[in-house]
Amino acid sequence: NSGKNMTSLIKILKNFFQESLNSSYPQLSHCTVDVTPSTKITFGDYQCNSAMALSGEMKKLGAKTAPREIAQNLVAKLPLSSSEVIEKTEIAGPGFINIHLKNSFVLSELTALITKGVRPPYVGPTKRVIVDMSSPNIAKEMHVGHLRSTIIGDSISRLCSYVGHDVLKLNHLGDWGTQFGMLITHLIEKFPNYKTEMPPISDLMEFYRESKKRFDSDEEFKKTAYQNVVRLQAKEEDYYKAWLLICHESFKAFNKIYKYLDVQNLVNRGESFYQDLMKDTVEMLDRNGVTEIDEGRKIAWPTGEKGQGVPLTLVKSDGGFTYDTSDMAALRHRLFEEKADWILYCVDQGQSTHFDAIYQTAQTAGWYDPKEKRVEHVGFGLVLGDDKKKFKTRSGDTVRLQELLDEGLMRSEKKLKENNRDSVLTPEEFKAAKEATAFGCIKYADLSHVRTHDYVFSFDRMLDDKGNTAIYLLYAYTRIRSIVKNTNLSKEEIEKLAANATAESLPIDHPREIRLAKFLLKWPEVIETVYKTLMVNSLCEFLYELAGVFTEFYEKCYVVEKDRTTGEIVKVNTHRLLLCEATANVMRAGFDILGLQAIDKM
Ligand code: ARG
Repeated sequence: NSGKNMTSLIKILKNFFQESLNSSYPQLSHCTVDVTPSTKITFGDYQCNSAMALSGEMKKLGAKTAPREIAQNLVAKLPLSSSEVIEKTEIAGPGFINIHLKNSFVLSELTALITKGVRPPYVGPTKRVIVDMSSPNIAKEMHVGHLRSTIIGDSISRLCSYVGHDVLKLNHLGDWGTQFGMLITHLIEKFPNYKTEMPPISDLMEFYRESKKRFDSDEEFKKTAYQNVVRLQAKEEDYYKAWLLICHESFKAFNKIYKYLDVQNLVNRGESFYQDLMKDTVEMLDRNGVTEIDEGRKIAWPTGEKGQGVPLTLVKSDGGFTYDTSDMAALRHRLFEEKADWILYCVDQGQSTHFDAIYQTAQTAGWYDPKEKRVEHVGFGLVLGDDKKKFKTRSGDTVRLQELLDEGLMRSEKKLKENNRDSVLTPEEFKAAKEATAFGCIKYADLSHVRTHDYVFSFDRMLDDKGNTAIYLLYAYTRIRSIVKNTNLSKEEIEKLAANATAESLPIDHPREIRLAKFLLKWPEVIETVYKTLMVNSLCEFLYELAGVFTEFYEKCYVVEKDRTTGEIVKVNTHRLLLCEATANVMRAGFDILGLQAIDKM
């Protein structure tokens, strides 16, 4: 470890206890011990609660050992080096071990955080990670489900990049299929000059509706539409061009949303990309022995066992391919061409049966071993309206994302004006604050909920500056920035102070200073948790709590001491200033993963 990474305190403690277990109970060395953050301050900083489970393991070996006895032995056999980290341990109840950290250790870790900056934990060698995200359907409006996929997918991508992986974000657009027959037919008829002039489609949704109406009511149109799908599939130039035009129109609308949400490097690689690979993919599955013919269709049973789970339909009786086929082709491409180690699919949970079947079939076909590759559906729940029903406009239509984001901007502007920010900030600063708040709040509301649950979309709640919201966190951050600014030290001076900090030069002893220091040192363990579970809400909780711990610190610990009568600065408490800086830096690192824009003034 060359200093590029931070080590989580949990990991350090776990290693001590594991070493102790191996020496005190060699017969249990196949077991792992667990260390967790304490649930209460009185229980110390961390806890090891493994004695109970270990006692059960002893029983399996035919030995009766009380958990308390095991706890005592674990503590007694802790390696010598642990005394530099652990101040003391207590055994509570049936065998809980409470661990108190040594202040000198906390201080030396804090010093490393201050001098070297906020760094990710080491999670292993660089992996190639593909994130399948956003994935709206061409010529249809992007809906709130796609918004969730975009926000969650982007945050998980940012996390994977942060820990050092090589991330490819793929937009698996719904850009192929029979509906394009009707769309291109309508385009060709409505704008016959489409080959030379850009057709002025201003509203694609309306265009989709018109086409659908004709498709449903006009037999002749329907027939042409079917013929045109075949022409499109054969990539006949004129029809292909018409299709490209429709895609292009959609991209314009999608890109506006990605720009608002600051989603970068998203590669468009929709279903159409995999069309030429479908036939070959099905043949490969034939060779792998997982396909069979069922009433004229070609299907695959996920586990290879007939009747188990829901089968994939790979080829329809008319010879056409399906959504299943395109996902098998995509998975194959990602595994064998892109050589991905991880493939994460940010798609609503409604599609979990589909993805289970895709992954299971690929494993049965021998495409990958789940022990070696993480291929996972990162599912999420529905977005609900205030009425706890599926999010809709008042008139019952699906909510248009662009309008939703614009409403967010309008509301955040109103909110900032209520707080008189427009009189304090320059117009540029106000604009930055407005955008950071609006988009930050929408993202944070989504990310701070357990993703697998449904969540209620409410502008009022997400723009509340007192709760667990982006606006609260953004304010907390700007407050720290202004505290730092009050010292009248330049950025360079502060950087120099940080770079030269030593444990001896930081007289950190106030209980609230120590509490803040310990909290900041949780950063690597929080990142490890999110990385393992892909549950970004843990990071949101951490940042929210950090803002609270910081407030408590600042209530009691002044950074700048001023002369009561003249108001002049008489003393700057450097160690507290550096604690403020470290807090701001940790927050900023968190914002970066969540995709929030940290602003200095708000
Ligand atoms: N376009 C699909 C939809 O809107 C989502 C695609 C998700 N990704 C995938 N590989 N199937 O429902």
